[in-house]
Amino acid sequence: MTTTIAVEVLDNFIAGRWMPGGGPTFTSTSPHDPSIAVGHGTCAGRADVDTAVAAANEAARTWRCTPAHERAACLVRAAAVIEANLDLWAGELAREEGKPIVEARGEVARAAQILRYNATHADTEAGQLFSSPRPGEKILVDHRPRGVVAVISPFNFPIAIPAWKLAPALAYGNTVVWKPPTSVALLAKRLTEALDRAGLPAGVLSLVHGEREVGQWLTEHPGVDAVTFTGSTPVGRAIAASCAARGVPVQAEMGGKNAAIVLPDADITRAVHQVLSGAFRSSGQKCTATSRLVLHENVADRFLDEFLPAVTALVVGDPEDEDTYVGPLVSEAARNRVGDAIDRAVAEGARMLARANHDGSLPGHYTAPTVLEVDDTETDLWNEELFGPVLTVVRAPDLDHALRAANAGPFGLSVAVFTADLSTALSSIEDLNVGMVHVNSETAGADPHVPFGGNKASSYGPREQGAAAKDFFTTTTTTYLKA
Ligand code: UN1
Repeated sequence: MTTTIAVEVLDNFIAGRWMPGGGPTFTSTSPHDPSIAVGHGTCAGRADVDTAVAAANEAARTWRCTPAHERAACLVRAAAVIEANLDLWAGELAREEGKPIVEARGEVARAAQILRYNATHADTEAGQLFSSPRPGEKILVDHRPRGVVAVISPFNFPIAIPAWKLAPALAYGNTVVWKPPTSVALLAKRLTEALDRAGLPAGVLSLVHGEREVGQWLTEHPGVDAVTFTGSTPVGRAIAASCAARGVPVQAEMGGKNAAIVLPDADITRAVHQVLSGAFRSSGQKCTATSRLVLHENVADRFLDEFLPAVTALVVGDPEDEDTYVGPLVSEAARNRVGDAIDRAVAEGARMLARANHDGSLPGHYTAPTVLEVDDTETDLWNEELFGPVLTVVRAPDLDHALRAANAGPFGLSVAVFTADLSTALSSIEDLNVGMVHVNSETAGADPHVPFGGNKASSYGPREQGAAAKDFFTTTTTTYLKA
């Protein structure tokens, strides 16, 4: 139930100080009840971005030479601050972003886990030693930080995604200027507070608020050495192009249109629960959400008989209620976009299989979880990312058609295959053009110690997370060492 939370001041954090920005004001509101303000703030002006980048460059000189174990210790202390505030910050996350409280707690805990994992880089090898063809010489290949990294993060995981960008950036000795969306500025404040309280030196992390313009100042700034972005494909592509134009490395995590394939030998009850979670948790607002369902003809009716009643029974409502499974979408624009796409698809012949019940009197940006069926994988509904609680079904006569349907379209992020047969699972992995395959689990989810990312239009640049993050957040220095 909605409880009273103080309305926060959402300042920028620049060169170690909280301060208002020189840009326009903004209000972060609750997507469940937009009349509730979570916080008021001011966007950074251009001069603020310049100051933050200058401070990051200044701090980079000492941070890169700070022992890796000291940098790691900072992340561990920040993880402890997050854990100490888990319930409070999860409540704020549910309030500000609209994610149900059960998921919000999981996300805050995950942010701490990500910081702790990235602290372990200090204990792994820092480079390689090669023999030299010349006498008395050794050749060292050392991983060094890139310098100043701009982090541009999305609304949908307001603490976990920034954590998985900031933590490896900082662990490997980079300094950061971070721009989150203003719609989740409070959670950005919380993560920044955790790192500040952990003793991060001034200038090593700055937080600037703003919309696309502030992101553009950052990505085009001559003082920024690398850019990591998660968000929509058009914005990611524009950032990648601008970084390429000035020769700056970029990592862009973008869209997904992820399929779950259910085969006749699958454990149907398990598949039903996993697809439900993949499609409708976080209201489908994950790049890894299951938005396509490929049902083998021989199991389709049996699966839908169990699945569709479960969809209509989903509890849609206040994200701060423990029982809620599906909260609102992040904004009115998102709700209208998803609603229009559903109407268009139905007008073009998609069949409505299920819509969850939801209380139409809710004031927030709610869209009922929806299941539609199409016959054709060329349709917009099969190919366009909606970022909402909408699942599209096709039937396939055999595995080959199922894999083709899952591979169709511009994206290549994640696919789930439900089967009890090992050879089917193995041949699916060979055939699927995606960055992540889940055998008998939902398409969403990501562990911090393994690579995360996709193929085709889903990702650009090196993978995130795990040891792979080093490819983006460091460059190498080759030293020919002779006494
Ligand atoms: C998850 O599946 O738990 O923006 C994480 C996104 C992804 C993260 C998904 N980069 O939704």
